[in-house]
Amino acid sequence: MDTREIIAAAEQFTKQELEFDPSGHDWWHVHRVRKLALELAAVEKADVFVCELASLLHDVADEKLNETKEAGLHKVRNWLTEHQVDHETVNEVMTIISTMSYNGGHNPPMDTLEGKIVQDADRLDALGAIGIARTFQYSGWKGQTIHHPERDFSNLAYRSDEKTAIYHFYEKLLELKDRLNTTHAKHLAIDRHEFMEQFLEQFYKEWDLKDA
Ligand code: ADP
Ligand code: NI
Repeated sequence: MDTREIIAAAEQFTKQELEFDPSGHDWWHVHRVRKLALELAAVEKADVFVCELASLLHDVADEKLNETKEAGLHKVRNWLTEHQVDHETVNEVMTIISTMSYNGGHNPPMDTLEGKIVQDADRLDALGAIGIARTFQYSGWKGQTIHHPERDFSNLAYRSDEKTAIYHFYEKLLELKDRLNTTHAKHLAIDRHEFMEQFLEQFYKEWDLKDA
């Protein structure tokens, strides 16, 4: 199989796994991450094949969508070897998708340019209008409420089933702009970040009837 055929097959595989995923990881998320990663790869002169393949497969192994993290990673590694992807590329892609998640900001920095790019692309899709839409979709999927003022602004340790959609902005979304790797991604994040700040401002205005 040449690289073009592998990419086409990866697209089919991901669609089959995630096409209608209701938790914010549906095919169109993957499609946007891939497009962003390709744009970043062109700017950074990175390996396009690795960036595209890792983007396409990055959420197939997501822990939340598989029995275990290991089972998800195993599924992707098997797919790559069945499609005769060379050993080095398999290892690069597997390293990217197994280490790129946010994990409360505790994961060590990505150590390859391609990893930095795919991580930036995934993070950019968690920002802005689309990031807001995905957050509320994820919250609905998890059964979370929209907002709980006393809890969201307290320093109480949260149980994960007590989190709200609004809390997620403070726990992760507003932190992301300072945790991007590439200059171009940091630039793209500026407007998306500002839009989320505006959204929150309007949200609290309505919540407190300050607009009434
Ligand atoms: P990805 O790795 O594709 O960014 P995640 O699995 O971290 O995806 O999350 C999927 C989407 O749901 C993202 O937009 C993310 O910001 C949002 N999300 C993740 N955790 C929560 C949460 N606890 N509450 C609300 N939204 C969340
Ligand atoms: Ni993703």
